[in-house]
Amino acid sequence: MNWKSKQVLVTGGASFIGSTLVDALVDRGAKVRVVDNLSSGKLENSQAKIASKTVEFLHRDLLEPGVADEAARVAAGLAARAALSVGAADRTAARLLALLGSF
Ligand SMILES: NC(=O)c1ccc[n+]([C@@H]2O[C@H](COP(=O)([O-])OP(=O)(O)OC[C@H]3O[C@@H](n4cnc5c(N)ncnc54)[C@H](O)[C@@H]3O)[C@@H](O)[C@H]2O)c1
Repeated sequence: MNWKSKQVLVTGGASFIGSTLVDALVDRGAKVRVVDNLSSGKLENSQAKIASKTVEFLHRDLLEPGVADEAARVAAGLAARAALSVGAADRTAARLLALLGSF
């Protein structure tokens, strides 16, 4: 796929894996927007690219109405809650995040 000038939304893009994907997309010429609430992700993972405005960073919670509606041609959804360490109530919240954060 030719990523040059493609607009890509990476949810959870401040995570370790998300920031690696962001780097790979930027290297390929994509215009990347990251939405992350920094609940477990770290801004320093993409700090240099955000500072240089290579990456647009939105510090937002995807469970807030309207946040997930921000348009992108391709969305890579990596926003997540670690399923192995949460109880039943949190598993429901994790599923909500996966659904509302992606569609
Ligand atoms: N680490 C692994 O071994 C592994 C394996 C397979 C899949 N994954 C998936 O890769 C992705 C990244 O995982 P990771 O281990 O790098 O870190 P992670 O699971 O901590 O990443 C989740 C990211 O989502 C953000 N986030 C959580 N809730 C949010 C919300 N409501 N709104 C906005 N952002 C929110 C967090 O701040 C974090 O940056 C996840 O989707 C995970 O399920 C990870």
